[in-house]
Amino acid sequence: MSELPPSDVADLGLAAQGRTRIEWAERSMPVLRAIRERFAAERPLAGQRIAACLHVTSETANLMRTLVAGGADVTLVASNPLSTQDDTAAALVAEYGIATHAVRAEDHDRYYRHIDAALDTEPTITMDDGCDLVNRLLSQRPEQAATVLAGTEETTTGVIRLRAMEADGALRYPIVAVNDTPTKHLFDNRYGTGQSTLDGIIRATNVLLAGKTVVVAGYGYCGRGVASRAKGHGAEVVVTEVDPVRALEAAMEGFRVLPMADAAPLGDVFVTVTGNTSVLRAEHFEAMKDGAIVCNSGHFDVEIDIPALEKLATARAVVRPNAEQVELADGRRIVLLADGRLVNLGAAEGHPAAVMDMSFADQSLAVEWLVANAATLEPRVYDVPLDLDAEVARLKLASMGRAIDTLTAEQRHYLSSYDIGT
Ligand code: ADE
Repeated sequence: MSELPPSDVADLGLAAQGRTRIEWAERSMPVLRAIRERFAAERPLAGQRIAACLHVTSETANLMRTLVAGGADVTLVASNPLSTQDDTAAALVAEYGIATHAVRAEDHDRYYRHIDAALDTEPTITMDDGCDLVNRLLSQRPEQAATVLAGTEETTTGVIRLRAMEADGALRYPIVAVNDTPTKHLFDNRYGTGQSTLDGIIRATNVLLAGKTVVVAGYGYCGRGVASRAKGHGAEVVVTEVDPVRALEAAMEGFRVLPMADAAPLGDVFVTVTGNTSVLRAEHFEAMKDGAIVCNSGHFDVEIDIPALEKLATARAVVRPNAEQVELADGRRIVLLADGRLVNLGAAEGHPAAVMDMSFADQSLAVEWLVANAATLEPRVYDVPLDLDAEVARLKLASMGRAIDTLTAEQRHYLSSYDIGT
């Protein structure tokens, strides 16, 4: 590559290793590949400047390649300081010529410098995972909103923030909630978070889950995934919830449902996946067993009250990569994983590529749809049109070699009538 794009990455020397990693992920992303091939022929994103604030992983790299194939100018920055794969970031710059600003473990200032670098490109489309990019744009550079056509949001937490902005009249351009598609909920949030969260816990600690008590805080789609995978490992799973319907569902799935105050002394491993703040607090740490492992798989590092844990600490030591042991005054030890940030991305590699294939296929089709329809949209949070999501599911099934039935004419008629009864 003759001239490299603007970048701030850890080490361009890692580019060849990163390319191998990106190509490995691509093998499990057939739907995204099919879209990339169509985009290369049709160029539906020509003339668009995309600022993407996403986890900088090999799966995201394949999304960036798809957008570039569609004709967009793309700048990628990290949506979390701990999830960046430095080799992937290097390859994006040196092997694929895509502007990338992301360094694993970057501090707060550098994180926002990177977001500003993406906004400096005057994007016409924003892609967010957690809403930090949109929040920065609307709070620090409101005049730029006029030149943004539309955006997408990948995750539950980001959609919650966007809906709050919409309710407040603060949202300035249309954003599609990719998170809210059936394929995202059902597959990425559940199977992706389920598997990758346990992967992170195991890589960080090498704990045997069989026979342990795993406490899962939150029984949304992500919590359902974590709980079911922990059960599959032979753990006894306790679920804590604030929503009675979700708690009831957990109970009927066979999980023990308890308030956190009662679960705290029982758990060997605690996983927060609520999307809310201060779920594990001082009173819970004080009740935990010696050696309890605590981690978070929700978007922000607010679910474990880390300042409270630090206050209780008499000694701290990094005992393994991504595992910090905090000693309390009575000698009990609590092991905090990945600094309380997303354990699946901080201590493992995030969701497997086969799942991100669908989420990022949805992202690509959502951007294409936005470019085609932005003129008719208002500054609101929109769902991905259901036919786009169904198309992603159809392509995924085809790639898995699975066929399904189609309605007969009689069945179609039956479903659209009301005169056929007992
Ligand atoms: N979010 C969760 N897992 C991810 C991954 N592997 N890549 C990008 N974003 C993710």
